[in-house]
Amino acid sequence: MENRKLLEDSAHYLLNTYTRFPIVLRKGRGMKVWSADGKEYLDFVGGIAVNVLGHCHPKIVIAIQKQAQRLIHTSNLYHIEPQIKLARLLVENSFADKVFFCNSGAEANEAAIKLARRYSRDVLGQNRFEIISALNSFHGRTYAALSATGQEKFQKGFEPLVPGFRHVPFDDLGALEAAVTKDTCAVLLEPLQGEGGVRIPGPDYLSEVRKLCDRHGILLIFDEVQTGMGRTGKLFAYEHFGVQPDIMTLAKGLGGGVPIGAMLATDKVAAGFQPGSHASTFGGNPLVCAAAIAALDVLLEDGFILDQCRRMGEYLKTKLEDLKTEFPSYIAQIRGMGLLVGMELTRDGAPLVKACMDRGILINCTAGNVLRFMPALIVTEKEIDHLADILDQVFDQISGHV
Ligand SMILES: Cc1ncc(COP(=O)(O)O)c(C=O)c1O
Repeated sequence: MENRKLLEDSAHYLLNTYTRFPIVLRKGRGMKVWSADGKEYLDFVGGIAVNVLGHCHPKIVIAIQKQAQRLIHTSNLYHIEPQIKLARLLVENSFADKVFFCNSGAEANEAAIKLARRYSRDVLGQNRFEIISALNSFHGRTYAALSATGQEKFQKGFEPLVPGFRHVPFDDLGALEAAVTKDTCAVLLEPLQGEGGVRIPGPDYLSEVRKLCDRHGILLIFDEVQTGMGRTGKLFAYEHFGVQPDIMTLAKGLGGGVPIGAMLATDKVAAGFQPGSHASTFGGNPLVCAAAIAALDVLLEDGFILDQCRRMGEYLKTKLEDLKTEFPSYIAQIRGMGLLVGMELTRDGAPLVKACMDRGILINCTAGNVLRFMPALIVTEKEIDHLADILDQVFDQISGHV
């Protein structure tokens, strides 16, 4: 079907929940995608931090093909071989002892929130239920995840929200301490905020939060839906800060493009769930787990990709800093870890996203004025140079230099 007809049908048949760009993406390989009308794009959005290995990585494609021929779905009434293997891989490479699989980031956070409350009631016998999360955080669109999210714009019109959530400024230990009550059962944080504008806490914040949680007998939950699976240059962002959570949530990069989420927990905390406490029909089905095993295998191979991610992240930040020097009135700050990099502008970022797209580069803008770059971890210097050249042209144009 041609591009124009597809766009017409999209408007006609799909619920109007997304502000979509007027292109239909049909094919992808590595860092590149092609639209239905044949235009090539260099992709610095990466499915919103999902495609850690780029589009259609051959090992993921083969794993999906092989698994699809063998067994696609069984339900969790039976043991699932790829699910067991994936859980083992995640446990062997993280702080956690146990894994629960679901289908998205929001669902992983729902599971974490439910586990924190159940653990308090059934294991500790305390009946605590309150969860403290951060302002400007993003935890998903389902009701509990939305209630945990510290941004009113996503909640407006959906009230009443789930009770029992408090929000405090991110990276402010005093505010967090002041918000703890006798009912607090957990603190839920992104180690660095993604949707909130790529915000990195001070070096001691998370370790101080850990100590605070331990002092008060509160669980620490890290939402690594965006920062996990190598995105920040380590398999999980918590590793940079020398802090381990009690619960961690994953999704996005976990399946290399297929929908899978996971909640990981220590044995102690996992004891809060019993058979029947929580479930998902599709969660951890054979097909998605086979894809995730392939993605994780590639990520862990000799640490090569994580190393590449750290080097390319530094290179990208250097190139963006050069642009900041050239256009100081447009660019306020460059920040990021690994290949989750933000460029805070002094103005709305939407026109820049459009101008880059017109020139064959896909980038994203979050929090209104932060250009966010989250390419595949296999991005090359040459591709980053190309992005920097295009951004240079675009800034030149909007500042009236050309
Ligand atoms: C940190 C974080 N948590 C949760 C979510 C929600 O994930 P999903 O869209 O898969 O439900 C996102 C999505 O952007 C996220 O960035």
